[in-house]
Amino acid sequence: MSLPPGFLDELRTRLSLTDVVGRKVTWDTRKSNQGKGDMWAPCPFHQEKTASFHVDDRKGFYYCFGCHAKGDAITFVRETENVDFMEAVKILAGEAGMQVPAADPRAQQKADRRTQLIEVMEMAVQFFRLQLKSAAGSSARGYLHGRGLDEAAWDRWGLGFAPDGWQNLWDHLKNKGVAEDLILACGLAKPSNKGKAPYDTFRNRIMFPIRDARGRAIAFGGRAMDPNDNAKYLNSPETELFDKGRNLYNFKPAREAAGKGQPLIVAEGYMDVIALSEAGFGATVAPLGTAVTEDQLHLLWRMSSEPIMALDGDTAGIRAAHRVVDLSLPLLEAGKSLRFVILPEGQDPDDLIRAGGSSAMQQVIDGAQPMVNLLWDREIEGKSFDSPERKAALDKALRDKIKLIRDPSIRGHYGQAIKDLRWDLFRPAKKPFTPSGNRGKWQPPSQNAMPTTKASALAAGTASVQDNLREAVILATLIVHPQLLYQFETQVSRMECANPDHANIRASLMVHAAMGAGVYDAIAEDVGFDALETLFTHNHVAIAPAVRHKEDTETAELTLGEELAKLKARRGHAREIDDALEDLYGVADESLTYRLQQAAEAMNSAGKVDQDDSANYIKGNNGALMNKEEREAFDDLLKAIGQTKSAPE
Ligand code: UTP
Ligand code: MN
Repeated sequence: MSLPPGFLDELRTRLSLTDVVGRKVTWDTRKSNQGKGDMWAPCPFHQEKTASFHVDDRKGFYYCFGCHAKGDAITFVRETENVDFMEAVKILAGEAGMQVPAADPRAQQKADRRTQLIEVMEMAVQFFRLQLKSAAGSSARGYLHGRGLDEAAWDRWGLGFAPDGWQNLWDHLKNKGVAEDLILACGLAKPSNKGKAPYDTFRNRIMFPIRDARGRAIAFGGRAMDPNDNAKYLNSPETELFDKGRNLYNFKPAREAAGKGQPLIVAEGYMDVIALSEAGFGATVAPLGTAVTEDQLHLLWRMSSEPIMALDGDTAGIRAAHRVVDLSLPLLEAGKSLRFVILPEGQDPDDLIRAGGSSAMQQVIDGAQPMVNLLWDREIEGKSFDSPERKAALDKALRDKIKLIRDPSIRGHYGQAIKDLRWDLFRPAKKPFTPSGNRGKWQPPSQNAMPTTKASALAAGTASVQDNLREAVILATLIVHPQLLYQFETQVSRMECANPDHANIRASLMVHAAMGAGVYDAIAEDVGFDALETLFTHNHVAIAPAVRHKEDTETAELTLGEELAKLKARRGHAREIDDALEDLYGVADESLTYRLQQAAEAMNSAGKVDQDDSANYIKGNNGALMNKEEREAFDDLLKAIGQTKSAPE
């Protein structure tokens, strides 16, 4: 829509910026000079006690000397009410008594009609509020008090009471001269099918006004006072004003609070919104008696990139969560995601806050789950995956869900997240090492490859020759000095033996180490003499002082410490590159570079690479020592990440 020439200038001259801003700030009267239009206040855009926010009313501009926020009346409304340009213009035009020209005459008529209907709705709001405070409202007042809401809260929320009886509101509005068709069009009364006068839609209910994005009353939610009533909540029917699926309860205040950085929370009910807002979570909304719709999701994403769905901890709540997941998958894109909070069994936010205060709620919000976790939980809950067929079925189910995501980059991230979750679920359980206590017969280690020994370009390279030698030195040293095993127990048990002979030797060593001198023979019996002989005849092993000098425990200790550390650092690094390369087949992300840097740092800090070793290594871009192969892989990786990053969005 375009505005006629001069419209904005006219708007700016008619408005007083001081009036517009004055609703959101408290002027510093000592510093301000109203006559000169020179106004000062604590800044509404950042936290401060002093008044560094300046309004120049004559020029129509504001500027904050603290946070440098600046602009005119339109900017101010956009920023404080979190609306777009046209919406801000409409709001201000309304205040200045100017009509934003409608696109065509029929739209103009419609706008006039809306204005009329909204006036009637406001009259109803006032009527209900008055009733709540009158004699008829005494039990409603008691009920609200019982739910922790005092009179100030009723006023904040415009709560009211629709008295019992058939024509209370009807008569009231007619006496005020409101046309019958307007009352009916507002959904406030319904025609009788017995030929009598129309009757009030809401009777004996606590009334919650539902307001649109501009704060105008467009509908009501009414909670039954009578616990035996058929409908606990009754909402206005759809009218010219009210489209349930395109509005949200508490929309305007929540949008403003979200604009100030509060987390946007979506609760299920009116009472939850009120309880959350009263507890300090001002950016809370609820759908209007229906499940969350696609239109509502778009409204939510205009307010916040990651709204938090706070759903009741019952089966209905979880079902609602899954409905939202399915609804939003095709809509996800950068800056549009959701988090989920499933409340403790049988509680809604209102209950939780009443029981544990806002800190209990905050805690639950801090633990909000990303959407991918819900997808995952739904597929695995109550199922077992003890056969390849079942695992395949799970993979298919998840793949089908992920396929619904239209945005390729988001789809890639979800794929990766699912891969990680899957890995956690199916990885072989780590068998804890039990030292001398367990002297059972040694069993060959299971053939389940450990995740870390999975095939990779690096596992076969020169790096593994080095690793193999280190493993051999470590094991031989321990066989000669079995008493040292306990000191290095954890590291040794975690050592990844690339060489299967080494894995067997280690397992046997761990069972028999407590035997002391007889350990060599005991291990030989388990793994065979050949394997042990190969171990001890490695050049490096045969000449290693730690192996040659049985009495020199100190050297043995030093050797073990050093070799284990180097092995761990180098392998950690290799693994990160390996994993990162794998990730690249999916989607590269910034966490890769971070992880690589971390790994490189760990490797450097283990440092002190032997002179003869260092000849085989080259300094990588990031300063880490790598062998040639690793260096190439690393460079490829960085290049790939670089390209991904610099690609236009
Ligand atoms: P709940 O039944 O969870 O109610 O409905 P609540 O918000 O906890 O209400 P209290 O605490 O018992 O007062 C949640 C929302 O579902 C819609 C309403 O919008 C309600 O706020 N609803 C519920 C209906 O539209 N009709 C109903 O009969 C019940
Ligand atoms: Mn409730």
